[in-house]
Amino acid sequence: MYSLIKKGLFSLEAEQAHNFTVKALGMIGKTPAKQLLQTALCCPQGTAKSCMGIEFKNPIGLAAGADKNGEAIDGFGALGFGFIEVGTVTPLAQDGNPKPRQFRLPEAEGIINRNGFNNRGVDYLVENVKKARYDGVIGINIGKNTSTSVENGKGDYIYCLNKVYNHAGYITINISSPNSPGLRQLQYGEALDDLLQGIKVRQRELAEYYNKYVPIAVKIAPDQTEEELIQIADTLRRHKMDGVIATNTTISRDSVQGMTNAEQQGGLSGKPLQQLSTQIIRRLHSELKGEIPIIGSGGIDSVASAQEKIAAGAELLQLYSGLIYHGPKLVKALVEGIK
Ligand SMILES: Cc1cc2nc3c(=O)[nH]c(=O)nc-3n(C[C@H](O)[C@H](O)[C@H](O)COP(=O)(O)O)c2cc1C
Repeated sequence: MYSLIKKGLFSLEAEQAHNFTVKALGMIGKTPAKQLLQTALCCPQGTAKSCMGIEFKNPIGLAAGADKNGEAIDGFGALGFGFIEVGTVTPLAQDGNPKPRQFRLPEAEGIINRNGFNNRGVDYLVENVKKARYDGVIGINIGKNTSTSVENGKGDYIYCLNKVYNHAGYITINISSPNSPGLRQLQYGEALDDLLQGIKVRQRELAEYYNKYVPIAVKIAPDQTEEELIQIADTLRRHKMDGVIATNTTISRDSVQGMTNAEQQGGLSGKPLQQLSTQIIRRLHSELKGEIPIIGSGGIDSVASAQEKIAAGAELLQLYSGLIYHGPKLVKALVEGIK
C-alpha cells in the first residue's frame, strides 16, 4: 500500500510531498479516519519506557522538522509513535530559505534539506499543541530567528522556553541545524556554557511558577571533532541537562559522493547518516556513562539499525527520513520490535 502512496509522493517535489503529507495527516487526525488508520496499523503495542523522568508509551518518536508547526500531531500520533517532537519553532514566524530547499537522494535513501527554520512562530504552535488529543508525549523543539544574531540567540531561546514550558512534555534546545547561519557556534565553549546556564536558571523559575518540572534536552550535530564532543558532553553534565538528542543532520557528503543531489547545500539525513550518528551516540555514551539520557536520531530504517543505536547507548529513538522512504509500517515494526 505504501509503495503506491510513495510513488505518488515521489512524483512531487520533496517539499510539496511533505506539505501534502502534513496536510493529509492533519485532516485525518481530526476525523474518525484516525481510528481507521490506527486499526489499519493494528495499533502497535510497544513497551513503555521511562526517560528524563517521563513515562513514554514506547521509545519510538517522530523527529523534529516533520511537523514544524504542530499541525498534524494527532495524525502522526495515529501511526503509533510514543512521542512526537514538533518544531523547530522560533519566536516570530519566518519563511526560511528560498525554494527549492529539500532534495531526495533516492539511491542512498537520503534527504538534504536547507529549510532554515521555516515556521509560523511559537504562539501558533502552542495553540496547536493545546488542541492536540494525542495521548503520547509531545516534545517542543525551539530555536532562534534568523534575524536574531548568534550573540543575542539566548534571548530567543528563553522567549520560546517561557511560551512552551507549560505545554510541553519535554523541550529541545536546537543548536545544531546547519541551515541557520552561525547556529552551530552555540555548541561550543563559552557560548554553550552561557546559553545552558541561562536556560537552567529559567527552567528552575518556571518549574517553581507552574509547580512542575519539564525536562530540557539539547540537540547536537554529528560533525564535531572528538575533542569538541568531549567538551560538549562535559558542559551538558556540568549544567545537569535532562537529555541529549544525537544527532541532527550532517554537512558531510562522504557517504553520498557522486550521487544525484549530493552537492546540494544543507543537512543530510537518512541512511547515509546512520553510521555517523551511531558513532556519536557511542562516543557520547562513553563520556556521559548514563548520567544524561541519549535520544538517538539519524538514519533509523529498520529494527536492526534501531537496535544498533540502543546498543551504542540511546534510550529513546527518533526518525524522520525513514518514514519518508519506508512509510508507517516502519513505525509499527520499530514499536513492536524494540522491547
Ligand atoms: C526536511 C527535514 C527538516 C528538518 N527540520 C528539523 C528542524 O526543524 N529541527 C531539528 O531539530 N531537526 C530537523 N531535522 C532533523 C531531524 O529531526 C533528524 O534529527 C535528522 O533528520 C536525522 O534523522 P533521520 O535520518 O531519521 O531523518 C530535519 C530533517 C529533515 C529531513
